[in-house]
Amino acid sequence: MLKKALENVLSEKESEDLFSAFDQIGDIIIVRIPDSLLSKKKIIGETLLEQVKTAKSVFYQSSSVEGDFRTRDLEILAGVDKTETEYKEFGCRFIVDVEKAFFSPRLSTERDRIAELVQDGEIVINMFGGVGMFSIIAAKRKKCTVYNIDINPIAAKLCEKNIELNKLAGRVISIHGDAAQIIEEQLSDQGDRVLMLLPERSDEFLNSAILATKSNGIIHYYSHIHADEKSQAAKLSEKHYLDITPIKSKILNSKIVRAVGPRYYQTVVDVRITK
Ligand SMILES: C[S@@+](CC[C@H](N)C(=O)[O-])C[C@H]1O[C@@H](n2cnc3c(N)ncnc32)[C@H](O)[C@@H]1O
Repeated sequence: MLKKALENVLSEKESEDLFSAFDQIGDIIIVRIPDSLLSKKKIIGETLLEQVKTAKSVFYQSSSVEGDFRTRDLEILAGVDKTETEYKEFGCRFIVDVEKAFFSPRLSTERDRIAELVQDGEIVINMFGGVGMFSIIAAKRKKCTVYNIDINPIAAKLCEKNIELNKLAGRVISIHGDAAQIIEEQLSDQGDRVLMLLPERSDEFLNSAILATKSNGIIHYYSHIHADEKSQAAKLSEKHYLDITPIKSKILNSKIVRAVGPRYYQTVVDVRITK
């Protein structure tokens, strides 16, 4: 339907490129537009807004996800200029701000996988927890306690709101600050399970993740891996982890989470460590 609506504006190939780079989050649409189509961005935005009845805003993503907070620049193309919205996933409700705090709807399969792995009674430390997506979905499904740490004050505040919205006070704890420092001061040897969702900097924070984890606890180590063959990416990330880890580790599983560029993948390695 959208392709049809844009058929006078875009060629078949152009519209294919466009729709592989388009996300709807609540009532907000975010579209990445190739340079060759930038002159048509207004009409693309207006058409999307007109056609997608559940959308109130269309933004163009004008930068990649960057900086310590892993945020992106957005430019309004059509509709209401507000970046906060409500998003629902696996029976949980979230207030997200698509510009001021990291959020990706494309990690939902991984959130489901982690929530299934968590066991009742566990203490989970989510080192780079953002607005609480992984933490809240896991705590809604299992009787665990989750520490959701984030250095971005807006992400930590939204996480507090989301804890309230999902009635998880005391089960998910939002902590604002640097994960390495918080772990050293309050959370060493506490975690049955530690999540490291800052793939670009996992190696730098691995010692903090190890400090946070109990002996026999599990670390979910995320990274970005270059692989010529997609089928090799998970094995390469296992090898990378084993090359750099200073601790006795048993690999439990590894997989591609998503493609992040040509021959470039976000992967996760699940490891049990022995201290
Ligand atoms: C890729 S995002 C993941 C967020 C969340 N886990 C999710 O999937 O929605 C990484 C997050 O780490 C946070 N961050 C970056 N450096 C940090 C640090 N040193 N300590 C704690 N959080 C940090 C960023 O603010 C960002 O929200």
